[in-house]
Amino acid sequence: MLLDLARSRRVLFLGGKGGVGKTSVASAVALRRAREGARVLLISTDPAHNLGHLWEQQLGDAATTVWAGEDAGDVGGPTGSARAGRLDAVEIDPDATAAAHLDEVGETLRTMMPEHLHSEVDKHLDLAARSPGTHESAMLERLAVLLDEGQTSHDLVVVDTAPSGHTVRLMALPEIMTAWTEGLLDRRTRAERFGAAVRALDADDDPESVSSEGRDRRIRRAITRRRDRFAAMRAVITEATRCSFVIVLTAERLPVLESAALRDQLDEAGVAVGGFVANRLAPAEAGEFLAGRRAQEQAQLAELERRADGAAVETLPLLAGDLVGVAALDALGEAMERAETR
Ligand SMILES: Nc1ncnc2c1ncn2[C@@H]1O[C@H](COP(=O)(O)OP(=O)(O)O)[C@@H](O)[C@H]1O
Ligand SMILES: [Mg+2]
Repeated sequence: MLLDLARSRRVLFLGGKGGVGKTSVASAVALRRAREGARVLLISTDPAHNLGHLWEQQLGDAATTVWAGEDAGDVGGPTGSARAGRLDAVEIDPDATAAAHLDEVGETLRTMMPEHLHSEVDKHLDLAARSPGTHESAMLERLAVLLDEGQTSHDLVVVDTAPSGHTVRLMALPEIMTAWTEGLLDRRTRAERFGAAVRALDADDDPESVSSEGRDRRIRRAITRRRDRFAAMRAVITEATRCSFVIVLTAERLPVLESAALRDQLDEAGVAVGGFVANRLAPAEAGEFLAGRRAQEQAQLAELERRADGAAVETLPLLAGDLVGVAALDALGEAMERAETR
């Protein structure tokens, strides 16, 4: 199920509780596709990034290539016959996006406000920079840009998301943000009409009004750009043939309940859930202790199936070694190839 989705969709989200294996599964599926020759962009939106740790590389807000296949041209094959795959990774830095955004807002506000209020503007922006909402919308805006660019520059975009609650807000926000920017735009339109009427009444052709028209256009452009970005992202994440959301969990009582709830919330937000991946399942025939564990997991998987409402449930085994680096991710990728769908 997971690999099928990765092969047939352009955007794949992995979500679920903290510590269940989202980053590992996202990395393994991304690597698998890159090995098949796809250009894959792997994005982490979790503020507590651990993608870099898994790939044993320093990652940042700009794409870093973490794996590249051999170019078929170099080994003598006809150029372009078998394109080399590539995997680029990004850890979104909301601070950088928020700072860039607030700089832009600050510039606009300063041109609008008289000189003696500029220190007030700075104070206001400083407060805004610290508010959690700023980070969330900055993260979202950066994700929107990366999703948009990634669908041109890459064959597949895999998003390793933050734990459940945050993810759902992230998924639902584009709608809220779109509505919010629409509202702003509406108010700007009315303000502009009013401004034009006042200017028409003004007999003098004063140069102030010309510059204020230019300013209005700039503000309008900035608002329109954000609105278009969020609307485009919303369109992508709600198109089931293009984008799918896979919920990762462990076969335990709480993760099962939370995953079923997450699926309902995503459903409500219009985001298609492609299925569930139950990760780190205890192996069979590995002693009495693990047999007990396994029995408990099977009961939880049955519970998940009851709640899954027909969605596929795929299982991945607990691997013995430390899940760090390419070899370990390949092992998890191979397990995906053999994964059973219940
Ligand atoms: N199938 C697996 N077998 C063994 N260890 C795993 C497996 N999947 C994940 N892990 C380990 O579980 C821990 C949490 O995984 P991680 O991918 O960071 O979860 P998340 O991103 O959901 O917080 C990590 O130490 C990882 O190496
Ligand atoms: Mg993670």
